[in-house]
Amino acid sequence: DNQTRLKTIIETAVDGIITIDTRGIMESVNPAAARIFGYDTAEMIGQNVSLLMPEPDHSLHDGYIARYMRTGEGQIIGKGREVLGKKKTGKLFPFFLSIAEVKLQDKTIFTGIVHDITDLKKTEERLRESE
Ligand code: HEM
Repeated sequence: DNQTRLKTIIETAVDGIITIDTRGIMESVNPAAARIFGYDTAEMIGQNVSLLMPEPDHSLHDGYIARYMRTGEGQIIGKGREVLGKKKTGKLFPFFLSIAEVKLQDKTIFTGIVHDITDLKKTEERLRESE
């Protein structure tokens, strides 16, 4: 049925898909997101999404969400931004983050799409060096 198809699409997506609640707690993580950050899905669910980023964002991220909930003004929602992620190994890598707010019947959640740009960056650098 349709729900199974949708689930398969999310499970096979190349980009990472992470949903959080309004406190930043990860509620769902697709296999690509787990692979990109080097965790098992089960290790990520229930943890704060700030687990996946270096300082200063690590310490500030709860405040970013709180400010958005207070003001309705997002810096990334609807635009996207290049940010630095932190893998389980501690290695930092660049990715393009897009965020959508999802107002469900009983609560609000956020969906984050994680598009790894490590290779793109390397190619850009090589091009610049060759100029
Ligand atoms: C806001 C960083 C992952 C949800 C922000 C901001 C930054 C940031 C810099 C805006 C700060 C400002 O006000 O200028 C990061 C980094 C991530 C990450 C480095 C690396 C893992 C995520 C993910 C989600 C998410 C995966 C959702 C599933 C939000 C929300 C806001 C926010 C809801 C507030 C709304 C907005 O500013 O657009 N984050 N974030 N973040 N982030 Fe993240």
